[in-house]
Amino acid sequence: MLEEIIYEYYDSVDSTNERIKDKAHEGRTQGLVVSAGMQTAGKGRIGRKWESPTNDSISTSILLEPKELPIEEVATITVVAAMAVRDAIKKKCGLDGQIKWPNDIVYDGKKICGILTEMEMQDGKVWFVTCGIGVNVHNKEFPEEIAFKATSIDLQLKREGIDIHCSRKELTEAIWESFKKYYNLFLETGDLTNLREEYERYLANRGNRVRIEAQENSYEAIAKGINNRGELIVEVDDEEKIISTGEVSVRGIYGYI
Ligand code: BTN
Repeated sequence: MLEEIIYEYYDSVDSTNERIKDKAHEGRTQGLVVSAGMQTAGKGRIGRKWESPTNDSISTSILLEPKELPIEEVATITVVAAMAVRDAIKKKCGLDGQIKWPNDIVYDGKKICGILTEMEMQDGKVWFVTCGIGVNVHNKEFPEEIAFKATSIDLQLKREGIDIHCSRKELTEAIWESFKKYYNLFLETGDLTNLREEYERYLANRGNRVRIEAQENSYEAIAKGINNRGELIVEVDDEEKIISTGEVSVRGIYGYI
């Protein structure tokens, strides 16, 4: 169970995920959150970079010790985190987002958040996990190559005519409070039994034709939902197929979703 959360803030770090790893090696324990005003070497999924410019976005990571969780279930923590971010943004900013499987929170078809979960093992078991979350908050524009698929909380608030200021500190705390709730429900069963129905309610690709892009092949399918491990269930030629989070991207046929 995740109980107490302890917050540490730095103006600038290379990557909050990397700082959590250092802290775990120094003996720090579950519940430590490291947040930073900016990251100089933010990391994205599949070896990509994650831009986190000065004081515009949230960069935050937590240290978890799910010692009894089977290694193959660790990736599902990303799905749990996506639910927490969606929930916290709704509560704090009034924005009702959807989830693009597995872990992107999207508004108006554009991504507002990225999540990267990493694990270290000892004696063949989970030693610790760091789950890192990046949220675009005050960003007014994005680099040309991602502008078509990226948005921020401020841009969405403006678009929806909602006149509130989103505090990065308050939203960060709301995210981890919400994460605590979802994560403990996840740990009860070690899978998404308690959370699947809610996740599917917000699943942006549900019922949509999507393109599955794996390393060696790419094909079209209909996204049906997820299973209790957080894997995507798709239909191809009247047959169900399970897509696991890994080296696979799922794209809409006509755009990012
Ligand atoms: C993605 O590719 O969508 C995942 C991006 C994850 C970015 C966050 S920002 C906080 C934490 N620290 C990192 O270096 N990456 C994650």
